[in-house]
Amino acid sequence: MVQRTSGVTAEELKDQLNIVDVISRVVPLKRAGSNYKGICPFHNEKTPSFIVSEQKQIFTCFGCGATGDVIEFTKRYYNLDFVEACEKLGRENGIEVEFRKGTENKKRDRLLSLNRTAARYFCKVFFEAKNPGYTYMRSRGMDDATLTKFGIGYADPEWDSLTNYMKSKGASDDELIELGLSSRSRDGRLFDKFRNRVMFPIINTSGQVIGFGGRKIDEKDEPKYLNSPENLVFRKKNNLYGLNTAKQEVGEGKPAVIVEGYMDVMGLYRYGLKNAVASLGTALTENQAKLIKRYTREVVLCYDADSAGINAALRGIDILSDQELKVRVFHVEDGKDPDEFVKMHGRDAFLELAKKAPPATQYKLENAARGLDVATEEGKLEYLRRAAGILKGLSPVERDIYVKSLADKLHVSERAINEEIEMNKAAASRNERPRARTEEEEEIKELTSSDAYLIKALITDPSLTEKLFTEPQVITSGLGKKIEENLFRTYGLKGTYEESDAYEGLDPEETRIASEAIDKVILNGKEEEVFNESLRRFKLRALRKKQSLIIDKIEIAENSEVDQDTTEDLTRELIEVEKKIKELEESKDGSN
Ligand code: GTP
Ligand code: MN
Repeated sequence: MVQRTSGVTAEELKDQLNIVDVISRVVPLKRAGSNYKGICPFHNEKTPSFIVSEQKQIFTCFGCGATGDVIEFTKRYYNLDFVEACEKLGRENGIEVEFRKGTENKKRDRLLSLNRTAARYFCKVFFEAKNPGYTYMRSRGMDDATLTKFGIGYADPEWDSLTNYMKSKGASDDELIELGLSSRSRDGRLFDKFRNRVMFPIINTSGQVIGFGGRKIDEKDEPKYLNSPENLVFRKKNNLYGLNTAKQEVGEGKPAVIVEGYMDVMGLYRYGLKNAVASLGTALTENQAKLIKRYTREVVLCYDADSAGINAALRGIDILSDQELKVRVFHVEDGKDPDEFVKMHGRDAFLELAKKAPPATQYKLENAARGLDVATEEGKLEYLRRAAGILKGLSPVERDIYVKSLADKLHVSERAINEEIEMNKAAASRNERPRARTEEEEEIKELTSSDAYLIKALITDPSLTEKLFTEPQVITSGLGKKIEENLFRTYGLKGTYEESDAYEGLDPEETRIASEAIDKVILNGKEEEVFNESLRRFKLRALRKKQSLIIDKIEIAENSEVDQDTTEDLTRELIEVEKKIKELEESKDGSN
């Protein structure tokens, strides 16, 4: 059973919806330039003056002045309050919405503003004095205009430059650690996480600095790119590097060009190709595809020409096609990546390749011939099988076109190919193809710091395990859950375990990530205290969530004239929850 312990905020809900989809379910819309147009549902009219902007994600009626975002539309159209509208949108789109309290929004704003302060600092250092970061970026062909546009910065090699600066600006230790700008050393002092690196601020489409990528300058440093950790404001899978600058041209009719890296986005921009974006070092995700869809329906994938790039393209095609985006694909063969290519051959050569880039299906078909000799009977048969697998998911019309050209090319009848496709379909439904990795699974390779604390406490004192048996959802990250399972299983068998048991069955990367996170935790014999405190906080969080949910429900009940009993039941429930909260708050030493 998949347990989601937290839903999305109203803000994130908006990010995951497309206002055009939502409105067009109830108001017929027609394309009008880059917008959509329809008859306004909020006043009487015969000619349409109701405009929906997909890029801005708002509606506006030029007849009656009604305007707002997708939540506002839902409120007005269905006559709901904010909470009800969010819940309705969430329910109908399979998204769980969580109403964070004002304090959490404040925290978000606070973290974003600290990130911006850090970005300004890095940028100032980068441009102010001669430094290895600037020299490095110039040596890679970047000009000042491009460097400024992307807000590039430099983190010097000292251990405390940024930390000291941020503290002087009022940042707390916890905030700096949460943002991943600082780490805590064994003696408890903070030190800079990014040292001697070129800093790429990662900016979302609202212009907020949500995180950083830092590239090494010294060849011997590791890793090549160091990224901000996932936190309240940084969610890799929901953002694309460069979209904040690319969105203008992409919104004006250019396709989005998806490349692999930060430097590719910038390199292309430097040569006037301003419509490139990169996913943040992970495979392309569903949410990234949805984000792109706000600005365009056309995508060109241009990944590195190595086998990793080809595989990433093949996966990317499926993710993008699922969102009904039109995908074309090419690789730059001369030069390892788009950045190098455009430097060697210039802008027009890149555009020429992009223009000729084959549609996704053709790319897949060409790719399926790799390693086969279609001149031989055997090779031809294998190729047909693979091609059938590719074509079976297409619309009938599209499939027909490819079947014709394949028949021509391979000198087989169209009927034979169509039969092969039918057979492939039948086989596929008999033994379900391995499904694409879900986002849940993409996230497995992370360990939140609260999980790391709990696991460290468990490893140090396995007798604490039993307290966790009854609290099955305390550990939240995918990787943490895998480890928890290992520990529970070993405990069940032997009544104890060792650290090595935690990593059983994990792949080397997961093991590295987990052991690093766990090593960093220092408990100094306070494992029981830490453990109890984590549990207490977890329970408190859950209870507070429940509390605000009930409060919302009571409000809704009161405003919608449901029977008195409902409100009374809810009030009783609320009193119970608040009693528990109070108990927990008072048991700070937490021996429960
Ligand atoms: P240059 O080598 O400087 O041209 O950078 P690049 O952007 O071309 O990098 P590369 O093709 O090696 O990698 C593509 C992208 O993968 C990068 O832009 C990063 O987002 C990510 N990436 C590469 N190396 C690392 C790494 O060591 N750690 C992490 N977290 N991400 C990486
Ligand atoms: Mn590169």
